[in-house]
Amino acid sequence: MNSAPALESTAQALVATGKGILAADESLPTIGKRFAALSIPSTEENRRAYRELLFTTPGLAKFISGAILFDETLRQKSSTGTSLVETLTQQGIIPGIKVDAGTAALPGFAGEKFTQGLDGLRERLASYRALGARFTKWRAVIAIDDGLPTRTSIMTSARSLALFAALSQEAGLVPIVEPEVLMDGSHTLARCEEVTCATLKTVFAALFEHRVALESMLLKTGMVLPGKTCQQQANLATVAETTIRCLLRAVPAAVPGIVFLSGGQPDLIATERLNAICQRGGTPWKMSFSFGRGLQDNAMKTWKGLPANATAAQTALHHRAKCNGLAAQGMYRSYMDNADPARQPLELANAQP
Ligand code: 13P
Repeated sequence: MNSAPALESTAQALVATGKGILAADESLPTIGKRFAALSIPSTEENRRAYRELLFTTPGLAKFISGAILFDETLRQKSSTGTSLVETLTQQGIIPGIKVDAGTAALPGFAGEKFTQGLDGLRERLASYRALGARFTKWRAVIAIDDGLPTRTSIMTSARSLALFAALSQEAGLVPIVEPEVLMDGSHTLARCEEVTCATLKTVFAALFEHRVALESMLLKTGMVLPGKTCQQQANLATVAETTIRCLLRAVPAAVPGIVFLSGGQPDLIATERLNAICQRGGTPWKMSFSFGRGLQDNAMKTWKGLPANATAAQTALHHRAKCNGLAAQGMYRSYMDNADPARQPLELANAQP
């Protein structure tokens, strides 16, 4: 079942020039929180209708190479009776699946978490592949605080990421390895760089030990940023320079692509920073986006759970995907968001970093 050329070409297709990944894999508690903030009831039908709206956005495949789904979505059908997986495939978007089972407190290490979901993973991967998934995602979280992260937390996350990646490749699926260094806290940019670099080096050592083929995987990581409440925020050029320096030190050149998560940054700022990073060029791997909130925030706010708003929500998603597709080539300019009808002028003014 494991065909290296097929996995390599899927990994490369996911980071095709000008395209990135739509992360629509919010778990039930997470989509519940996002819907609740907009007073949208989190019923199975609303979740299905919302994901159908996203996946049927006309022209989306021009900027979106793949979509990450949650287990429930992989089994749902569109209003026309086609499976949502088939809906994506017909659009030219590669379906993927989040396979971790969320995080839990790391015993003995206050403030740190480990990711669950390895038990039974081999069997789940086989069934996901049979349902049409072609790639997988596993997210580990690393928190920065006084004395955190501990070496134990980084090593635990690295081990489970490596085992997940090896199991995915065995099942004929391209793993997206996601060690997310959280933005919460008042830490500096330098501290984020140090922690991100140490985390990535540990993750790649574990991937090597578990015989993961680097050519057949993608890395999903955060940009290197000061903590959300750090007094000294960084400008675009500094974010780009620090992020690239950190990645060049820690990510082997054999990895075909690095996709960034948005991690709670305002969507326009995520686009600006992605653009600044990608503009620098000269890296051995392709760089692009795998945004959840960074792609969906405006679309979900526009939709509000009302079928009458579906077309406007699709327009908002299309616009954001287009801007991020341009940013992945260093070709985004902030005036492009002035043309977004769903965007309030105040949001635009606040978006300038
Ligand atoms: P955000 O872009 O909203 O951080 O989500 C990306 C993701 O998939 C986190 O696992």
